[in-house]
Amino acid sequence: SILELRLYQGFWLPEHWVPGTIVFQRRFTPRPDDVILASYPKCGTTWLKALAFATAARTAYPPGGARHPLRRLNPHDCVPFIDEIFASGEEAKLEALPSPRLMNTHLPYALLPAPVTATATGCRVAYVCRDPKDMVVSLWHFLRRAKPDLLFADTFESVCDGTVVVGPVWDHVLSYWRASVAAPDRALFLRYEDMLRDPGGNVRRLAEFMGRPFSAAEEAAGDVAAVVELCSFDEMKGLEVNRPGSGTAGRYRPMPRDAFFRKGVAGDWANHMTPEMAARLDGIFREKLQGTGLIFS
Ligand code: A3P
Repeated sequence: SILELRLYQGFWLPEHWVPGTIVFQRRFTPRPDDVILASYPKCGTTWLKALAFATAARTAYPPGGARHPLRRLNPHDCVPFIDEIFASGEEAKLEALPSPRLMNTHLPYALLPAPVTATATGCRVAYVCRDPKDMVVSLWHFLRRAKPDLLFADTFESVCDGTVVVGPVWDHVLSYWRASVAAPDRALFLRYEDMLRDPGGNVRRLAEFMGRPFSAAEEAAGDVAAVVELCSFDEMKGLEVNRPGSGTAGRYRPMPRDAFFRKGVAGDWANHMTPEMAARLDGIFREKLQGTGLIFS
């Protein structure tokens, strides 16, 4: 495999994620108004973090404002990655965050701490998924930043056989899909492609889910459109803070900030895989998701 992976509670975690995951599972205490943003890597994490942050902070920071934090900070520096915080022994930082807290994780639903998923003590979790074919392409480009000789075919194979970062991917997606079917008020299931087609509609869904629906006055003022614009791919990619050479985000394995903004479209898979590869990956997902109500293609 590409990274050193260890099978942990049914998922292939990178070795360096395991300690933080264990401490997160043991020690995290959710607050009822917490919102955890969850995703499989390369499925829209950065975008979801930006949208949720802009939505949650819109009173303090009007989304159209020139001094908005998202115009000078990368979204990963606005919303903390919970497992990284635990891995670096900085959980006091989480305690110090004002409510309602926004945080993110790449762990599957089944690996979230029990108090998060328990009805009595839990909090809300918003998940974003993406067409696995585009995810593979995005993942390959991202991993290649750290490992330039990585072959697309190898990334593709590891996704197909499940031995990929927090894979199997189908089990990851299904864990959140099932949670959202069981309790839609507790688990929101978003799709990257839907967000591209209808960003405003998805921002409204997110805001309602977070308990912060846009008021009629905010709607009339164009606040939804302002959030969408602030967090749009072109806007974020063009910021000084996200330019190549501007520095890194993340601490487990810091990545150049520009690596989080590549193309930002649906369907780029067609430029990287043969029709046979696409059919094979689609077939695997169809089989694994059969009977669950979740369909990719
Ligand atoms: P591509 O590599 O296909 O361009 P993650 O944030 O989970 O790491 O996912 C990264 C993917 O989301 C990349 O996809 C990236 O370009 C895209 N992305 C990042 N910011 C975005 C935004 N504001 N709007 C749409 N897509 C975005």
